[in-house]
Amino acid sequence: MLASMGALPLFEADKARPFPRGFRFGVATSAFQIEGAADEDGRGESIWDRFCGTPGRVANGDTGAVACDHYHRYRDDLDLVAELGLDAYRFSISWPRIHPTGRGRPNQAGLDFYRRVVEAALERGLRPLATLYHWDLPQTLQDAGGWATRDTAAAFAEYTATVVGALGDLVDDWVTQNEPWVSAVEGYAQGKKAPGIADWPTAIRASHHLLLSHGLAVDVFRSAAPPGSRIGSTLNLAPMIPASDTDADIEATARADGYHNRWYLAPVLRGRYPADMLDFYATQGVDFSFVADGDEALIGRPTDFLGVNYYSVGRVREAGDASFLGFEFEPARAPVTAMGWEIAPSSFTDLLIRLDRDYGRPRILVTENGAAFPDRANGAHVDDPQRVAYLADHFEAARRAVEAGVDLEAYFVWSLLDNFEWESGYGPRFGIVYVDYETQERTFKRSALWYRDLVARHRLASTETV
Ligand code: FCB
Repeated sequence: MLASMGALPLFEADKARPFPRGFRFGVATSAFQIEGAADEDGRGESIWDRFCGTPGRVANGDTGAVACDHYHRYRDDLDLVAELGLDAYRFSISWPRIHPTGRGRPNQAGLDFYRRVVEAALERGLRPLATLYHWDLPQTLQDAGGWATRDTAAAFAEYTATVVGALGDLVDDWVTQNEPWVSAVEGYAQGKKAPGIADWPTAIRASHHLLLSHGLAVDVFRSAAPPGSRIGSTLNLAPMIPASDTDADIEATARADGYHNRWYLAPVLRGRYPADMLDFYATQGVDFSFVADGDEALIGRPTDFLGVNYYSVGRVREAGDASFLGFEFEPARAPVTAMGWEIAPSSFTDLLIRLDRDYGRPRILVTENGAAFPDRANGAHVDDPQRVAYLADHFEAARRAVEAGVDLEAYFVWSLLDNFEWESGYGPRFGIVYVDYETQERTFKRSALWYRDLVARHRLASTETV
């Protein structure tokens, strides 16, 4: 009956419940994906510069040399964030701008750049959330073994001390690492991302050193940061769904969850690896002698929040010996984004509730959520109804989790700008702001204006939720 009435009657608007008071709305970016200025002010080479320079690794041979030229345009870009009325800005710090060769004397020009970025955010009323590692390892450290080497974790702790010492008076909220699963698996097992290695046991070892470096950084942070500063890890979490109800698929799904989610959640939030996955990897030939006594306790140092990046789900079927993991993913089911990722907002609610229930009610920040669609600029307008629908559904999914009692404090949309999407280059557009890479002109997409209205109302419009 409502549908035939056209505009919704006023009482329907009450159905769109507000987000809690103090809930923060933000946008997220990362250094390599937007900054460009690859050779400026003493920046060193990162594994992503090397990867982009290796023929065949990145679509179209795209590189991060210019990207969105954010290094020179950060003030204008932060003006856009302020124009939308947002509360918070997540960005990452490029390790090779701070320590061009990974260790040693810091490069003051690099620290100064991030201080200017943070000051510009604060001047615009934006609360900064700084990520220490969003995948751009100094190449020199890779030459010495990268995350497959324990020493890289020690280098990360030194870098953390430098950055927190330089910016800790201005930045309250810190993320140690963005998505260690991606660094370890896509970087060391699948060879899809830098450094482009394809060896499973090496990837498991790399995952341990990434997690260890998180724990070491938390310790360093507690002694270097002013009281009240907060730190957490950001994990990319994806609910796993069995492809069928056979015992084999259900068992494979538990393993997929262990491999993708619990392998990171359990050590970070409980201080120990999941026993079933230790056993499974051991049967696959992984020798865990790289885990030293006390490592798990270090990884499990108390943190102040859990950062969650949510995009999609995995559909799992058992695959016997055909793969190292003994399972494989079924093709995604429609509807999907331009990345081919299944759109599954209700699984987002389930995930948040599960984290709350199984991991001791952590405070959660959604540090990324968003979608790529094939946007086209049409003069001063970019109409992206699919992204508006995607975001509306996912914000509503998160709000439902809050209503169910989840301690969700903030939500950062990925991403402010269209940007360098790693091995896919500049093809996929994730921004709520369209970037013309020829002219560097920025245009708000309809989703940006929609987001501005959501933030102003602090609730979704009734039409989006009924
Ligand atoms: C996440 C990354 C981010 C971006 C989005 C689409 O895995 O953290 O840099 O690539 O996916």
